[in-house]
Amino acid sequence: MIKLIKAVYGMHDYFFPDTILWKKIENIIQNILNNYGYQEIKLPLLEHSELFRKSIGEHTDVIEKEMYTLLDKNNNSLTLRPEGTLGFIRAVIEHNIFSNNKRFWYNGPMFRYERPQKGRYRQFHQIGLEVLGLESPYIDAEIIIIINNIWKKLNITKNIFLEINTIGSLKDRKKYIEKLVLFWEKNYSYLDLNDKKKIYTNPLRILDNYKYNNIKQLNFIPKLKDFLNKESIDKFNKFCNILNIMNIKFTINYYLVRGLDYYNDIVFEWKTYDISNQNISKTICGGGRYDKLINNMSNGKNHSGFGCAIGIERLLLLVQKNQSLKLNLNFLIDIFLIPMESNSSFKKILVISELIREKFPKLRMIISYCFKSLKKQIIQANKYKSRFILIVGQKEIKNNLIILKDLYIRKQISIPEEKLILNLEKYFNS
Ligand code: HAM
Repeated sequence: MIKLIKAVYGMHDYFFPDTILWKKIENIIQNILNNYGYQEIKLPLLEHSELFRKSIGEHTDVIEKEMYTLLDKNNNSLTLRPEGTLGFIRAVIEHNIFSNNKRFWYNGPMFRYERPQKGRYRQFHQIGLEVLGLESPYIDAEIIIIINNIWKKLNITKNIFLEINTIGSLKDRKKYIEKLVLFWEKNYSYLDLNDKKKIYTNPLRILDNYKYNNIKQLNFIPKLKDFLNKESIDKFNKFCNILNIMNIKFTINYYLVRGLDYYNDIVFEWKTYDISNQNISKTICGGGRYDKLINNMSNGKNHSGFGCAIGIERLLLLVQKNQSLKLNLNFLIDIFLIPMESNSSFKKILVISELIREKFPKLRMIISYCFKSLKKQIIQANKYKSRFILIVGQKEIKNNLIILKDLYIRKQISIPEEKLILNLEKYFNS
């Protein structure tokens, strides 16, 4: 027996009706981004590995464990992008497009070798927003407002909550990390094996572990906010103020640091609670400011950046779980065309179908080529969830007629060929 080849573990196929819902979600997001003047940018899936290694943070999970890296035939080390921000910055620097539009978005697959579970995959999709060269709490707030509008349009505002924080400058974080390492050393016994390994390599990341939210020691964990410079605090206060004015609900999570090392100042995450365990939340969208990163990558030119990315699979699960978007799945095909018996009816149907497609480019039409009895083909049309059937047989060709069958009201009429378009206009132009 030949062994069946299956999809790569953690990488998924999507079919109807998920694909319809996915497209609808994408369209809603893209219309909103368009409305705010964001321009699409298309980026490669493969980048030089050093792009990620240098910038995401050597001791982050993404770099330590999750990169899909390969050598090409010239021995170049290439990596399937684990996220979109670095490829985006590489592209804007390479093409020097700082002076044009400053607001961008991208959409596509990302790859991380993570342990798969519901909502966590090895290939997943992000829609990312990035803003260049604008440095004000207003632009930071603009992104929050946009994302909030997306949740409103998707009807999921009740199922999602926003956490924000400021992580200050690199200098602030260095001072804080020294204190945090001392704290973890003192509370070593509370940490699990995985976190024990992070004490000296990525002590901030230990804060993410939800378990510590329940231990008494939490009150004594040093807080980054006590180490921040005044400018960062002022910016953060202004940012909070704008969100309040715009009626956007948020909580400040002083332990929110994000999993990628490249942020400074404001960071944020929109989360939803896990269905099975209310102690666990999943991040649907996360981001923040990354001025230092873009400065370093552009050799010290004074650029700034702010952005975020939405995980599409997680969003899809949330929309499905709450049935927050209604899909009209009653009819999936508008016209199912059945040529009966002879070659001449096939030719006729072909000509008619092209004419209809030209007049009604949005209609979904299928020609049946299954050469079965009329009854079987009508069953087929129903399986396709068709609204109308057009039938042409020998008798119709002889009399210049076409049979139009309405599967909704279950009636059929014979109409002269020249009146077909006029008849279809009655249904489809309204
Ligand atoms: P991130 O938080 O790593 O940020 O990813 C953004 C979103 O992608 C997450 O909130 C989540 O919804 C989704 N995601 C991440 N990993 C997975 C996975 N394994 N399976 C399914 N979904 C996943 C970034 O990637 C930053 N580049 C965002 C950003 C843009 N920051 C500034 N600009």
